[in-house]
Amino acid sequence: MDIAIVLAAGEGTRMRSKRPKVLHRICGMTLLDYVLDASIGAKIEKNIVITGHGGEKVKKHFKDKPIIFKDQPIGEDVPYGTGFAVMQAEDMIEDDSTVVILCGDTPLITADTLKKFVAYHKEGQYHGTVLTALLDEPAGYGRIKRDKKGNISKIVEDKDASEEEKEINEINSGIFCFNGRLLKGALKKLDDNNAQNELYITDVVEILNREGYKIGGYIIEDSIEIYGVNSRNQLAFCEKVMRERINKAHMEKGVTLIDPSATYIEPKVIIGADTTIYPGVVLEGNTSIGRDCVIRTGTRIVDSKIEDGVVVESSLIEASKVGQGSNIGPNAHLRPDSRLGKNVKIGNFVEVKNATIGDNTKAGHLAYVGDAIVGRNVNIGCGVIFANYDGVNKHVVTVGDNAFVGSNSNLVAPLKVNDYAYIAAGSTITKEVEKGALAIERGTQVNKEGWVEKRGLKKNN
Ligand code: UD1
Ligand code: CA
Repeated sequence: MDIAIVLAAGEGTRMRSKRPKVLHRICGMTLLDYVLDASIGAKIEKNIVITGHGGEKVKKHFKDKPIIFKDQPIGEDVPYGTGFAVMQAEDMIEDDSTVVILCGDTPLITADTLKKFVAYHKEGQYHGTVLTALLDEPAGYGRIKRDKKGNISKIVEDKDASEEEKEINEINSGIFCFNGRLLKGALKKLDDNNAQNELYITDVVEILNREGYKIGGYIIEDSIEIYGVNSRNQLAFCEKVMRERINKAHMEKGVTLIDPSATYIEPKVIIGADTTIYPGVVLEGNTSIGRDCVIRTGTRIVDSKIEDGVVVESSLIEASKVGQGSNIGPNAHLRPDSRLGKNVKIGNFVEVKNATIGDNTKAGHLAYVGDAIVGRNVNIGCGVIFANYDGVNKHVVTVGDNAFVGSNSNLVAPLKVNDYAYIAAGSTITKEVEKGALAIERGTQVNKEGWVEKRGLKKNN
């Protein structure tokens, strides 16, 4: 069995945040989510997260995922360090397992790299393997010392390194593979005889090497993958790298991004080929966009399904569905549970909420359609309000197929307007309107001839 132990107990002081570091987000997902997704993606069956600072918040965030949590005690009189963190999972490590140690703050690591790394460890029959990187500027990292055979004999922390050792540019990524039994044995031998008085996981390497075991070093192809987040600056850097990865993948699948550097797409979003995305678009959560769509600047779409051939201009769409060929915006707001059929038009300053809208129906301007069931080929005029709220409860308005709702009318819920009914502009409708009827509810217009002149209001010019 392959086990991952993810270290996430550190405080993350440099983030200057009340939120635990691993719960900070890049492209909408937490740092720890990325690490766990990579681990699960590499088919590692058992995932254990070591929590400490802010542990309760971390557990709460992952309550629906199959993750095991272990608490690292934090305090003045308890030890500290990566080795002590791993010790917390000791009772979960089976002798014949392969243990992969990961860090919760390296979101750029990929499942593909972890897969290759674990395969290298197993195929080379190593007792332990370190994922390493060659860096031009290795300062701050643990340095890798190899013996004549090329096996790793020791990792020296930056703070413990001699001037000569500081010249080594192969560094420890903080990711390891160990045989379960050997790891448990070595953990018992760790001491804090070092510059930081910590229990270092890196010392396991030297202990095993001294006992005659073979420690391999797998050099990562792209060292960006081991980049860790310790500050907001590094968070923004990872955000940019992740955004580029996501955007590149969409472009490779046939999506046009006019300016990828200004397009924000979260990892779970799906987009069909020949769709064009303009700069300044934000696509979040479980959103899917069909083929041949055009999503223009200033649009944010969250957890929604947009079918083929839809055009959206500077609008907000949340937890909604937009049928094929529909046209949204500019400045429309589809609030949660708006379900639009095909070729629907929701135009300027129209707000829709919890409503089903049938094919070919149009609400072109300045309307509110809330808690409604609207049929096909309905025209909703400018300024129409579905008055769904009586101050206590919400009620539903149903509008049948081919109905016409004149401008500036109020449909007061609960209400039914049947097929082919007409609502005259400016009416406030409270009673059911029969099929094909005209409903008109407004004062009768009176024109008083010559009134202006009689009042002496006419200007002589
Ligand atoms: C560690 C490595 C170093 C490596 C570097 C890569 C050690 C001793 N050093 O150094 O060789 O080059 O990572 O980034 O391992 N953590 C806990 N509990 C603790 C201490 C740390 O869970 O008691 C977690 C942190 O939250 C973090 C990870 O372990 O996710 C690494 O700890 P950190 O303090 O950042 O280690 P470095 O000093 O960077
Ligand atoms: Ca670190």
